[in-house]
Amino acid sequence: MIIMAMRESVFFRAALIILMIVAAGGCAKPKKSAETGGIILGFSQIGAESAWRICHTRSIQEAAAAAGVQLLFSNAEQKQENQIKAIRSFIAYQVDVIAFVPIVSSGWDNVLREAKDAGIPVLITDRKIDIQDESLYAGYIGTNSVQEGRDAAEFLLTKFQDQGASAKNPIRIVELSGTTGSSAADGRAQGFREILAEYPEFRIIYSESGDFLRSKGYELMRSILKDYSDIDVIFSHNDGMTLGALDAMKEKGLNPGTDIVIVTVDAEQAAIDALKRGEVNCVIECNPKQGPQTIALAKQLARLETIPRLIHVNETVFSEGDDLLSIGPRGY
Ligand code: AHR
Repeated sequence: MIIMAMRESVFFRAALIILMIVAAGGCAKPKKSAETGGIILGFSQIGAESAWRICHTRSIQEAAAAAGVQLLFSNAEQKQENQIKAIRSFIAYQVDVIAFVPIVSSGWDNVLREAKDAGIPVLITDRKIDIQDESLYAGYIGTNSVQEGRDAAEFLLTKFQDQGASAKNPIRIVELSGTTGSSAADGRAQGFREILAEYPEFRIIYSESGDFLRSKGYELMRSILKDYSDIDVIFSHNDGMTLGALDAMKEKGLNPGTDIVIVTVDAEQAAIDALKRGEVNCVIECNPKQGPQTIALAKQLARLETIPRLIHVNETVFSEGDDLLSIGPRGY
């Protein structure tokens, strides 16, 4: 009886363990990479808030298809919790590599530790993260937001030089900021302030987040124009918000680019067109075509190779003094 009970108990425990492994997705699914030599990349995108973002997604998808990488793509619809869920599902699925665009910089520690414990390398793309344990991700590829902010400020230094501004009679700047807590917004704000800190004749009189959305850029600008009549400059963290703000200014009878100097980031086709019409004065490129480099890095990680910790993609600045006819189609 006792031996039978022991045998039943051993059998029961073994069956339970097998059930748990299958339920957890453990050994149930062999990795595709082992079977076919291809790799599976889990990619968590933040959403489709701008033409820039749509181009970024397209670039990743096209590069994956061209390289024969199987892409598990997830759209988080602007919610960090959705990104965390997606990353957990990639871990359960045992993908070879995880890549994601962190909507905000903080709050990734736990899920990235889970990925590390599962032995899955993580590539951070487009936006950066703040994390104590740097070993929780393999590397970053994306844009240099701090430099974009510096470029915006440098343009203003040139634009307003010799115009007699002073700390008592300053150039009054309104900043339309991106998503609060994102490295794209924080970096642009930081780089902009870093340069202007030396020049008290430039004053940021108002700054508020428009979440990188055209609709919010419009609403924000409408309400700002009710409170302020003496704005010299708009520094907008993305073209989407800029285009909304231009609509609000024109509704008010203002001539953007002439009455108010406009500096914007991204370099979407619509912003370049506005630059050519004289409605925008400076466009800082934020390069969304990151797919080929991202996929190449993912392949290296799948081969367990070490990748650089930080790669910034190439970016440029377009401004009113340039030969604007030579700017080719932007593709976004
Ligand atoms: O992270 C890059 C930023 O995100 C782009 O400037 C903006 O358009 C997008 O939403």
